Amino acid sequence: MKILVTGGAGYIGSHICKELREKNYEPIVFDNLSEGYKKFVKWGEFVYGDLSKPSDLSKLDAHDIKATIHLANNAYVSESWKNPSKYYKNNISNGINLLEYLKKRKVQKFIFSSTCAVYKNSKKALNENSSIYPSSPYGRSKLFFEKILEDYSKVYNFKVCTLRYFNASGADKTLSIGEAHVPETHLIPNLIEAFEKKKTFYIYGKSYPTRDGTCIRDFIHVTDLAVAHCKALKKINKISKKYIIFNLGSGKSYSVLDVVNEVKKFSNKKVNLKFAPKRSGDVSVSKSNIKLAKYHLNWKPENSSLRNIIKTAYLWYKKKKKIKLY
Ligand SMILES: NC(=O)c1ccc[n+]([C@@H]2O[C@H](COP(=O)([O-])OP(=O)(O)OC[C@H]3O[C@@H](n4cnc5c(N)ncnc54)[C@H](O)[C@@H]3O)[C@@H](O)[C@H]2O)c1
Repeated sequence: MKILVTGGAGYIGSHICKELREKNYEPIVFDNLSEGYKKFVKWGEFVYGDLSKPSDLSKLDAHDIKATIHLANNAYVSESWKNPSKYYKNNISNGINLLEYLKKRKVQKFIFSSTCAVYKNSKKALNENSSIYPSSPYGRSKLFFEKILEDYSKVYNFKVCTLRYFNASGADKTLSIGEAHVPETHLIPNLIEAFEKKKTFYIYGKSYPTRDGTCIRDFIHVTDLAVAHCKALKKINKISKKYIIFNLGSGKSYSVLDVVNEVKKFSNKKVNLKFAPKRSGDVSVSKSNIKLAKYHLNWKPENSSLRNIIKTAYLWYKKKKKIKLY
């Protein structure tokens, strides 16, 4: 069964393609390589294209696609403040091009990569009914697209599953793919680099209302995200609602200092830590309630112990240095 994966050459998309192939699906990757890598497309056909161009989407006409997993978005919070129009164009307008193409083709099963950045800041574990208040253009672009999808499900009979990821991290256990964002903005790969290159690592904020004063986050291993997508694909027809949202996190939360300590244990090296002022937009706590995904998808984040996340991210970091990604 052919599954269209937009953004399948990226970090999370490539892991999803590997999992799809293992579950006997055939991923068709559509990607403009603006952020992804051709070398990450290993488990299905690659269609080079940009969602802004309907003529590129028609390159997919030859494929009998049964469902879509849509990841092709821009996803840097800080960049979204400098260039919000890029985020609204790519994450909304270009996404509508995709929906119109799929509508024409009558491919109405749709899984969307959304984010916990749509929620209002809360110290409590966030469930799918928690208050919504995205604090960046990035978060808003994701929320607006969620709403558009809800309308497509009501009016055009799309069957939609929106998956709100918490912090994706780690790498596939074979180390054939992993995180390679440029620039890298995520905590774990940047911390590993600081340990390896003996660079000073800056922690933003030491007076958050948390147990050690640093921010608290919920990290989900990228393999657990990939598994959840395959389960969502299987269940999408069985769930009676036309539009459904699931949180995908580990349900556990760690402070920045917890993560520093775990990387230290794994590397057996030292790092020079310094505290810098808080960054605007950083929430003090972000953690998930994942009861709904566990129940409906029959899914558990089995790979998401902090230890396994750090181990696979560290091993991937070392492997990445030895390979040419371009
Ligand atoms: N990384 C995280 O922690 C995280 C958390 C929550 C949600 N998400 C969401 O998951 C998705 C994937 O994130 P990622 O970290 O793998 O990012 P990524 O940048 O590695 O992957 C995105 C892919 O989409 C492609 N792309 C972007 N715009 C495109 C366009 N117009 N046409 C065709 N291809 C295009 C890029 O080339 C890239 O390969 C994004 O939608 C992001 O918002 C990520």
